[in-house]
Amino acid sequence: MNNLHDTSVRAGIRIAVVGVTGAVGRVAMGLLADRKWPASRLVVMASARSAGKKIEYRGHSLEIKEARPDAFGGVDAAFISATTAVSRALAPEIARQGVLVIDDSGAFRMQPDVPLVVPEVNGGDVVWHRGIISIPNCTTTPLVMVLAALGKATPLRRVTVATYQAVSGTGAAAVRELDAQTADLAAGRPVRAEVYPHQIAFNVLPQVDGFLDDGYTAEEHKMANETRKILHLPDLPLSATCVRVPVRTSHSEAVHIEFDRPVSPEEARALLADFPGIEVMDEPARSHYPMPEHAAGKDPVYVGRIRRDMSHPSGLALWLSCDNLRKGAALNALQILDEVVRRGVLKPATVVTSGPRE
Ligand SMILES: NC(=O)c1ccc[n+]([C@@H]2O[C@H](COP(=O)([O-])OP(=O)(O)OC[C@H]3O[C@@H](n4cnc5c(N)ncnc54)[C@H](OP(=O)(O)O)[C@@H]3O)[C@@H](O)[C@H]2O)c1
Repeated sequence: MNNLHDTSVRAGIRIAVVGVTGAVGRVAMGLLADRKWPASRLVVMASARSAGKKIEYRGHSLEIKEARPDAFGGVDAAFISATTAVSRALAPEIARQGVLVIDDSGAFRMQPDVPLVVPEVNGGDVVWHRGIISIPNCTTTPLVMVLAALGKATPLRRVTVATYQAVSGTGAAAVRELDAQTADLAAGRPVRAEVYPHQIAFNVLPQVDGFLDDGYTAEEHKMANETRKILHLPDLPLSATCVRVPVRTSHSEAVHIEFDRPVSPEEARALLADFPGIEVMDEPARSHYPMPEHAAGKDPVYVGRIRRDMSHPSGLALWLSCDNLRKGAALNALQILDEVVRRGVLKPATVVTSGPRE
């Protein structure tokens, strides 16, 4: 599962990448090039600002089209990694035209008629799609992989998680802001904060997305709701604290899991090592553990610091790092397409006719 295979490449389908100039879109193009996706079966799209510009792809110069509903003629599947507003406007419209939409935004994730999929965890959910499949938030994906692996031992009782999220999770503009602030601070110049409410260089922001009435942020609610939907555990108690850190790429998470019965670190390591897409990196004596700097540019979810939770007899504590642009976004989207093609469900039985529900 973790290595890209060529199911979709062989199927001869034509795909569109919407948001090709963005942080996720660029990684998606790299992954498609790695798997030798033919340029003749690839359409690249972004906003009107980018329309007409050219991008290089495997020796071909592809012209960027404006992502409009009438631009998808001949396209079988579209990856949308643009903005939530773009997804809301475009996805139902092109799904009605018969294009399978694999959507990166938060627009449809919790809609009951839209599968929310991490193929290693709930790949079977793709069969009931109605033209749109969502990928989870980039913090949810590695978490559900770990929980699915460990949940094979005994039921999960409760999860608490603190995230350490890279700025590329916000998009290309946030990476430029971190770089600019770092250079400005090093040169003794004043810092400008535009993407985040505060300086992010040499700082940590205990806020990802806006605050809701209960004191949690929208990102923290997303983690809880999406995890429950993907794991088919609608009542799983989960509390998250989402934090932005001055790292370019790869999110990390400190996770505490309470089980029905004690799960030893040895048992947990074996379950995690067996799970597709997870790599255990856990030799504390050698200071060998996952770090964003190591995870960036790689496919697996890296897990380490696996230990008994000293505050609970049936608890386990661990640490993970995962490239938010690859498994957290573009790679997961491509794997969903493979899953759909492999299961022969590119075309849905019925098509979503409504827009997203709030
Ligand atoms: N970054 C992550 O780790 C991550 C993970 C999971 C999901 N996502 C989701 O993926 C999506 C893209 O995120 P990103 O980080 O790649 O953002 P980004 O770097 O800001 O890129 C945004 C992309 O959207 C395009 N775009 C903006 N307005 C558009 C319009 N009206 N029509 C068509 N295209 C338009 C931009 O094209 P122009 O260059 O022409 O403006 C650009 O290609 C978001 O929905 C985000 O929530 C991101």
